[in-house]
Amino acid sequence: MAAEAGGAAGKRRIMCVGLVCLDIISVVEAFPAEDSDTRCLSQRWQRGGNASNSCTVLSLLGAPCAFMGSLAPGPAADFIAADFQRRGVDTAHVAWQPRGEVPCACCLVNAASGSRTIVLHDTNLPDVTARDFERVDLSQYRWIHFEARNAVEQGAMLERVERHNRAAALGRRVGISVELEKPREELLPLMGRGHVVFISKDLARHFGYQSAPEALRGLRGHIQPGATLICAWAEEGADALGPDGELVHSNAFPPETLVDTLGAGDTFNAAVIFALAEGRTLQDALTFGCRIAGRKCGIQGFDGIV
Ligand code: ADP
Ligand code: FRU
Repeated sequence: MAAEAGGAAGKRRIMCVGLVCLDIISVVEAFPAEDSDTRCLSQRWQRGGNASNSCTVLSLLGAPCAFMGSLAPGPAADFIAADFQRRGVDTAHVAWQPRGEVPCACCLVNAASGSRTIVLHDTNLPDVTARDFERVDLSQYRWIHFEARNAVEQGAMLERVERHNRAAALGRRVGISVELEKPREELLPLMGRGHVVFISKDLARHFGYQSAPEALRGLRGHIQPGATLICAWAEEGADALGPDGELVHSNAFPPETLVDTLGAGDTFNAAVIFALAEGRTLQDALTFGCRIAGRKCGIQGFDGIV
């Protein structure tokens, strides 16, 4: 993806399409035993969801950004909408659904290890459709990131961006990235779309790979020619396979104390997208992603990552 010229064009936004949910986070001293009754150290509500968290990080990094996903009116959505606003994330393309509940996750963050254990209720709120996406004025965006969820509809959305790019001048094209986190069969075709494809450690493990470089070598056949495949692997940092087949690695930047790893992957993705959209090299982007994600792991939430 060619770097964008500065000036007015530099104001085009980065959009993330995917999940927003309410995270109810309890920070615990030690992971509780089943059927026990304990007190936590602290508790908070936090706007969550991969695409939504990535918007938080983009906005903290100083990139104008927008979120596209579904919400349904009610107290959870009020909290979420206010938080998007506080962060300066544009929500003009949120699809307000007349039916369904806003997804909600109970999250335990273990203060002793930074581990996060998530139980998500995400069952009946319809996802945004290709029809919703028709209303997006693509000329306003320099990058659109898709968190793979509803593959068929997202395939049609990607098709629209690809069509736009074929007709647009080089400096006006929209960078496309896709994240595959959940190892669901129907999401796999989305690996063949996008200039940049993020795959998770969970997905890699599901396919039997024991490390990021192994996963990249094994799954490279799924991406389109000239695309970049990226795989983050917690304390081992991240690896990428660039457009010319080059393998790139960054070590992790572990914080002094691991405090909260909830959203580390979303932070990494956002920081990598931010750097690539600025025209930085793949190596720089990977290192930047690990640096910012490492900082995130050393603090509760996202304030303080930059
Ligand atoms: P997630 O489980 O949220 O998807 P990952 O495990 O893929 O996150 O990690 C994303 C990035 O966050 C890693 O590449 C690394 O830079 C950073 N990270 C995550 N966990 C740790 C850790 N325990 N120590 C240091 N860095 C970490
Ligand atoms: C973190 C996260 C949480 C959310 C869960 C959804 O990556 O997006 O905010 O509860 O994952 O799977």
